[in-house]
Amino acid sequence: MSTNTISAKVVTTHVLSEMKLRGEKIAMLTAYDYSMARILDMAGIDVVLVGDSASNVMAGNETTLSITLDQMIYHAASVHKAVSRALVVVDLPFGSYQGNSLEALHSAIRIMKETGCGAVKLEGGQEVVESIDRILSAGIPVMGHLGLMPQSIHKFGTYTVRAREQEEAQKLMADAKLLENAGCFAVVLEKVPAALAQKIAEALKIPVIGIGAGNGVDGQVLVLHDMLGINQEFSPRFLRRYHNLFAEMTGSVKTYIQDVKSRDFPNEREQY
Ligand code: KIV
Repeated sequence: MSTNTISAKVVTTHVLSEMKLRGEKIAMLTAYDYSMARILDMAGIDVVLVGDSASNVMAGNETTLSITLDQMIYHAASVHKAVSRALVVVDLPFGSYQGNSLEALHSAIRIMKETGCGAVKLEGGQEVVESIDRILSAGIPVMGHLGLMPQSIHKFGTYTVRAREQEEAQKLMADAKLLENAGCFAVVLEKVPAALAQKIAEALKIPVIGIGAGNGVDGQVLVLHDMLGINQEFSPRFLRRYHNLFAEMTGSVKTYIQDVKSRDFPNEREQY
């Protein structure tokens, strides 16, 4: 099969591991609503992430910490209705899984029951492995997330590149192996040096999906609103913008305003 072919097959965690085995890159994007998720799925995306970045791009919060489990469930249920092929992964929000594995299990069960989505994602390594074990024991697939972990922004104080120093790089490798051994089906690596990310991807059997982690990993993820240029403020080095929707949409809205004010809209064909 060519790496450019969009397969009609439904994407499962098993399909993702097969993709890694045959060297086919995994394409993942975020979505938070029905309409956008439908576009992604019809375009052939492999994984849709209902990210807690919804807190920033949908709700306008400064960090991801404020979004609640109920709000994530609302977004995820909307996305699930639109998707028939991609695997839909839902972020467990801050406060719904750390420090209490039973609460983590209840949060993950609510997501699976109330949204219909296929997997959950959570941030952290050693510190959250008990929660991961418990969620996995209920048969719920878990995606890990290491490197820059936005839910821990107040601990680190900055969104800068992680694991540049040897000690942190070693912990990152150890955490990645721990997540694999715990049974995670994939792991996201955010904002880490490309050489280290490649080393981790080569050391793991499960797919490693990067964001700001270079090209040596098994797949890539971006926030949809960033790659479409709906957000103008956020422009890290790793981001490739495929559109400038902010400018295009502003232009369309301005034209509409003009048309209304000038009485050009609606015309005779646009009325009953
Ligand atoms: O919430 C999110 O959008 C994410 C991606 C940046 C990986 O976790």
